[in-house]
Amino acid sequence: MRIVVGITGGIAAYKAPELVRLLKKQGHEVRCAATAHALEFTTRATLETVSGAPLYSDLFASGGTEHISLKDWGELLVVAPATANIIGKVASGIADDALSTLLLAFSHKLVIMAPAMNSDMWAHPAVQRNIETLRGWGIRLVGPAEGELACGTSGTGRMAEPETIAEAVNSLFLIPHSPLGRWLVTAGPTYEKIDSVRFIGNYSSGKMGFALAEALAEAGAEVELVTGPTHLNATHQRINVHRVESAREMYAAATGLFPQCNGAILSAAVADYRPAEQADHKLKKQGDQGMTLTLVQNPDILATLGTMKQPGQRLVGFALETDNELQNAEGKLKRKNLDYIVMNSLREAGAGFGVDTNKVTILGADGSRMESPLMSKQEVARMIVSTVAP
Ligand code: PMT
Repeated sequence: MRIVVGITGGIAAYKAPELVRLLKKQGHEVRCAATAHALEFTTRATLETVSGAPLYSDLFASGGTEHISLKDWGELLVVAPATANIIGKVASGIADDALSTLLLAFSHKLVIMAPAMNSDMWAHPAVQRNIETLRGWGIRLVGPAEGELACGTSGTGRMAEPETIAEAVNSLFLIPHSPLGRWLVTAGPTYEKIDSVRFIGNYSSGKMGFALAEALAEAGAEVELVTGPTHLNATHQRINVHRVESAREMYAAATGLFPQCNGAILSAAVADYRPAEQADHKLKKQGDQGMTLTLVQNPDILATLGTMKQPGQRLVGFALETDNELQNAEGKLKRKNLDYIVMNSLREAGAGFGVDTNKVTILGADGSRMESPLMSKQEVARMIVSTVAP
């Protein structure tokens, strides 16, 4: 593969020559593009020596069109390290130097970014918003990892190691050969806003949904994980996380992604109702009187996907029941046009919300029925994937 390695101005730039060396050892052709700040941490001579090709760092050095010829040459652009600055520039469409111009020119091609920055910078809402924008455009992210940072603190923000980035490059080749293709998973609760400080939510932690996403990714699938509010992070590089808050946001994300997916497993605990009115200020207590909230129904995501389902697509729902469990689950299986439904009962100790374990019964539209023992959510997820995925 012909790979352009883009380097921006973070301390981890000193690891870029090692990444270039590894990629070349794996048989790839490599050229480098660096920002002026990157060359404070590594040198032109080092990058040209390890890549065996001239470095691209000056927009106007050879007539101002090299970003186009490099874009035509390259099949993949790997930016490592990717600073908050380059992430923000790409998300905003800014092209003011050699590398940012190349990145915009690369818009329809494969791009991998390995972010690296201080953990507070990484947590900043602007950076997180930009990251979501890049993910939505199909840019793949590797890391950042947790650990000691150059500024003397520790947290999330270290650039993934060159070996991990090189592995991510190679795993790109596995995806087209994956028999599972792309799968959508929903996870976690939804929050339905009452006013600027209160919401209606539920006890879902997202553990079951994240375990399903990991199990699918381990099995070779590319996963689109749409999750309500949770503190969990996905670890597998083939999982693209889409964070939403309300049922309507989850509906928009899931219905948008489903047509490109081979299958979907909906494990989110979606609120069936939301307040009819959502105040954008804090509602004040009204003397000693009670308060009445009027609720309106949310869209049913699973039922909608059931109407959208095309031949060959698999659709799997969950059912969280407290009584008449199997009967209720079978009703949902048929009504929502599902291939499988995974029933978990709140009457079983160790099953359902929040806990690390679950016990499920998987019912198939073909009449099949499989019960799991009480197991970790990871084991339950693997069992579900091996049952419902072709
Ligand atoms: O997140 P954890 O703490 O690990 O907990 C896991 C879990 C208990 C949340 C999970 O195992 C589970 O049971 N998820 C489904 C919970 C639920 O809302 O069940 P339900 O029977 O109300 O919904 C049936 C199905 O319709 C579910 O697939 C649900 O995602 C879907 N649904 C429901 C309502 C709605 N408006 N849209 C939907 O898509």
